Amino acid sequence: MDLQRLSELSDADLDSLYAPGSLPWLRVNMISTLDGAATGPDGRSGGINNAADKRVFQTLRRLCDAVVVGAGTARTEAYHDVSKPLVLVGRSGHVPDRLRDTPAGSVLMATCEGAEALDETRALLGADNVLVLGQQRVDLARLKSVLAERGFTHLLSEGGPHLLRDLVAEGVADELDWTVVPRLLAGDHPRITAGPPVDVPLQLALLIEAEGTLLGRWYVGEHAP
Ligand SMILES: NC(=O)c1ccc[n+]([C@@H]2O[C@H](COP(=O)([O-])OP(=O)(O)OC[C@H]3O[C@@H](n4cnc5c(N)ncnc54)[C@H](OP(=O)(O)O)[C@@H]3O)[C@@H](O)[C@H]2O)c1
Repeated sequence: MDLQRLSELSDADLDSLYAPGSLPWLRVNMISTLDGAATGPDGRSGGINNAADKRVFQTLRRLCDAVVVGAGTARTEAYHDVSKPLVLVGRSGHVPDRLRDTPAGSVLMATCEGAEALDETRALLGADNVLVLGQQRVDLARLKSVLAERGFTHLLSEGGPHLLRDLVAEGVADELDWTVVPRLLAGDHPRITAGPPVDVPLQLALLIEAEGTLLGRWYVGEHAP
C-alpha cells in the first residue's frame, strides 16, 4: 500500500478514499498522541487535534448520514453542532445542556428502559426521537439497524473510548479511522478505548501522512467493504 500525502489530495480525493463500505456502515473516528493519549492537557480531544485531523474529520462528517456519540463525550466536549443528525448514546438519558434547545429531530437519544431522565428527554426531544434499546445498556447492533430503518445507513461515531470499546466488542463497528499526532504527553490520559478487555484484529486499508501526523483507515475484524 502506498503512503498518501494529504497535501496532494483534493477534497474529492478524500471523499473517494473514505467512501463507505456496504451499507449499513458504521465507522469510528478517533485521535491520539504517539504515546496513546486520547486527550490533551485540557482533558479534551481538541487539545491534541490539528489541521490534518480536522480535514479528515470534516470529510467523514460530510460523507455520513448521522453522527453517533457517547453521552460522556457530548458532555465533555460540549457538543452543539447539529448540522448532521446527532445520536446520543447514554444509560441515564440526560441531554447535555448545549443540546437542549436544538431543532426537533436534530438530536436523538438512544438509552435504556430504566433511564432516569426518560420522561424529561421524551418531552425535550419528542418521543419518536428517544430510542429505548435495552434494559441496562444500549443494544448497539439494534441501534445500527433502527437508524438504518430511518434512512441513516452511513453512521459516523466520534467516540468516546467507552463507546468505541462497546461498538467493537459487539461487532457493530465496521471501521476505525485513527489519527496519530506526533506528540508525547505522558501524564494520565484515557486511551482511545476504555472498559473491559477486547481483542479484535484490524486491517489497514489506507494510510495518509501530513507533516508527521498519520491518518489511518482500518477495517475492524472481518468487516470490509
Ligand atoms: N481522542 C478522541 O478521539 C476522543 C474522542 C471522543 C472523546 N474523547 C475524550 O474521551 C473522554 C470521554 O470518555 P468516555 O469514555 O466517558 O466517553 P464516552 O464513551 O463518549 O462516554 C461514556 C458514556 O457514554 C454512555 N455510553 C457509552 N457506551 C454506552 C453503551 N454501550 N450503552 C449505554 N451508554 C453508553 C454512558 O453515558 P451515561 O453516563 O449518560 O450513561 C457512558 O457513561 C473525554 O475526555 C473526551 O474528550 C476523545
